[in-house]
Amino acid sequence: SHLFGRNKKVSGVHFTPIKPTDKDDLILPRGFKYDVIAAYGDTINKKGETFGYNNDFTMFFPIKGSNERGLLWVNHEYTSDLWVTGPKDKSGNYTKAQIEKLLYNQGGSIIEVYKDEDGAWKMDTASQFARRITGLTPFRLTGPARGSKAVGSTDIVQGTFANCSGGKTLWNTVLSAEENYESTSEAASLNETHYGWIVEVDPFNPGFAPRKHTALGRFHHENAAMGLTNDGRVAVYMGDDKTDACVYKFISKNKYIKSRKQANSDLLEEGTLYAASLAKGEWIALTIEAVRKKAAGNQALLDKFQTQADVLVHAHEAAILLGATPTDRPEDVEISPFDKSVFIAHTNNSKHGNIHGHITRFLEANDDLGSLTFDFEIFACGGRQSGFSAPDNLTFDSEGNLWTVTDISSSSVNKGVFSSFKNNGVFVIPTTGKNEGEAFQFASAPVEAELTGPCFTDDETTLFLAVQHPGEETTDIHKPTSMWPHRKGDNQPRPAVVAITGFQY
Ligand code: FEO
Ligand code: CA
Ligand code: CA
Ligand code: CA
Repeated sequence: SHLFGRNKKVSGVHFTPIKPTDKDDLILPRGFKYDVIAAYGDTINKKGETFGYNNDFTMFFPIKGSNERGLLWVNHEYTSDLWVTGPKDKSGNYTKAQIEKLLYNQGGSIIEVYKDEDGAWKMDTASQFARRITGLTPFRLTGPARGSKAVGSTDIVQGTFANCSGGKTLWNTVLSAEENYESTSEAASLNETHYGWIVEVDPFNPGFAPRKHTALGRFHHENAAMGLTNDGRVAVYMGDDKTDACVYKFISKNKYIKSRKQANSDLLEEGTLYAASLAKGEWIALTIEAVRKKAAGNQALLDKFQTQADVLVHAHEAAILLGATPTDRPEDVEISPFDKSVFIAHTNNSKHGNIHGHITRFLEANDDLGSLTFDFEIFACGGRQSGFSAPDNLTFDSEGNLWTVTDISSSSVNKGVFSSFKNNGVFVIPTTGKNEGEAFQFASAPVEAELTGPCFTDDETTLFLAVQHPGEETTDIHKPTSMWPHRKGDNQPRPAVVAITGFQY
């Protein structure tokens, strides 16, 4: 129906904030609707490949500059024994078929999406681009740890999994972050040091070998936010989502040259990895020389750290050794397009009593992403007063608002000190003006779900969003705690990606 005006912006704070709710639906302010584009198990292409589980980060790649047709990269973070693989056997192991299923349903999906004449977003399964990248896809290692002893002297590794958030490069490829890789690598008996990297894929070009950039370090990668230093090198900001973990920045050795297009990918193969000391306001270079100097006299450390590859593979340990600051679970990082300040979601840290988390803002010296000194402030705090808890993914709109999704864990949501927030949500926080730092609720998730991967089209008339793990606390498959997206005839909840659009009313 043409009831839906087609060009109303979703971005900005042009909506009546919603109240927290525990309804089993994706609730939006009046004047906005959502279309389910792809859900777990849906066929995505003519080959019959299917959409993976627990969709997370999304990134829209316009086709010919369109705001109404493009490729959508979607991360698939982890699976579920109940809804994907089925339970482990009595000895606590998966069968070979279950392991394949577990690996197939993680990684990423490239799907083609479009808006039809009635203003509804759909998936185009006849797409020539749609394909899966999974835990079974071969990946090439790049950078200092490639072929090193630390990764078992190999250049090629199997698959990607635990893909949490990510980012887009300046040359139109996607970066996807391998986060909690341990349980999957263990279940599949795969070498742990092959996971925990930033991976790069070109959604448009299957000929571009999927790769893992070891120069960006190995840790519990949440994301990768790319910008340019004042002298034209590439800077990538990254969170390590673990309690008491550091914030990282990679700076390339060479400069970005636009005309080199995807060949710029080699910028991520050589450069310096830094970790932040908040006490000193300094970025500390993680080099083998510095680590060995600090480790002098400690034979176990000297044995562990022999080359730069060892520093990258054990980046967290090297960062702490060199004096970087452990922080409260740094999740997504986003660079403000207005003043190049850097926003970091510190989701929470129950060990330190930081139950609701906060958003930190780094101010790089001279507003230069290449600076090695910075100042910082706490930009916004979670809690009853602000109305949000556990900030996770971030994205900016063109009016300077920071869009933040929340991730109260499924076992805590709607309980105890988290009761007042009800289900997880999306919040819009202006970073300038009279409402700076104030949070306005835009969306509420289905039961036990987390909203992840917010991504606008360039004209900001569509917001893509992933609804992850609805009904996660279900114990009896016949009594799901959520049935979202409430498809007719379905008998289980399904993680799904939606497109949100606004209409006049
Ligand atoms: Fe996968 Fe840090 O959330
Ligand atoms: Ca996350
Ligand atoms: Ca983000
Ligand atoms: Ca999270």
